[in-house]
Amino acid sequence: MLVRLIYASRVHPDLTPSDIDHILARSHANNARDGVTGALCYTGGVFLQCLEGGRRAVNEVYHRIAGDPRHTDPAILSFSEIVAREFGDWAMGYVAHTADNRALFLKYCPLPQFDPYTMSAASVEALLQELMGVARWRTAR
Ligand SMILES: Cc1cc2nc3c(=O)[nH]c(=O)nc-3n(C[C@H](O)[C@H](O)[C@H](O)COP(=O)(O)O)c2cc1C
Repeated sequence: MLVRLIYASRVHPDLTPSDIDHILARSHANNARDGVTGALCYTGGVFLQCLEGGRRAVNEVYHRIAGDPRHTDPAILSFSEIVAREFGDWAMGYVAHTADNRALFLKYCPLPQFDPYTMSAASVEALLQELMGVARWRTAR
């Protein structure tokens, strides 16, 4: 059975670009091994991540991630059984907040700042789907 889990968290203030590279590298290796796909957004001090795969694998990786000191306040925004993956092409697609996609982040937010904690599950899913189309994605090496 396939599930999709989407959560938000707050980036640790000391996080560096090389931390992001390390996270993506581990994600790529582990997720490919475990059949987990998804997307990771990093913007405005907040992570927004979608994890898709088998229920057991998604639970396991989420609990590992939730205990990671590189971020705080993890909050599950959506958890659902799915028929098919939306982010099946990437072991972990990554998108950072750029001037190009700023309007897209705000399109689905009730506040002028991007704040996934205030968004509905439907808005978060729609944002991630749109980002797939317009943002520049990169996969960990
Ligand atoms: C925002 C964020 C997202 C992460 N995403 C993943 C992920 O998708 N897959 C993964 O295996 N680890 C991910 N990690 C890293 C895990 O927290 C953990 O460090 C890693 O899974 C440990 O793997 P290792 O035992 O192979 O080193 C993420 C960490 C953070 C802070």
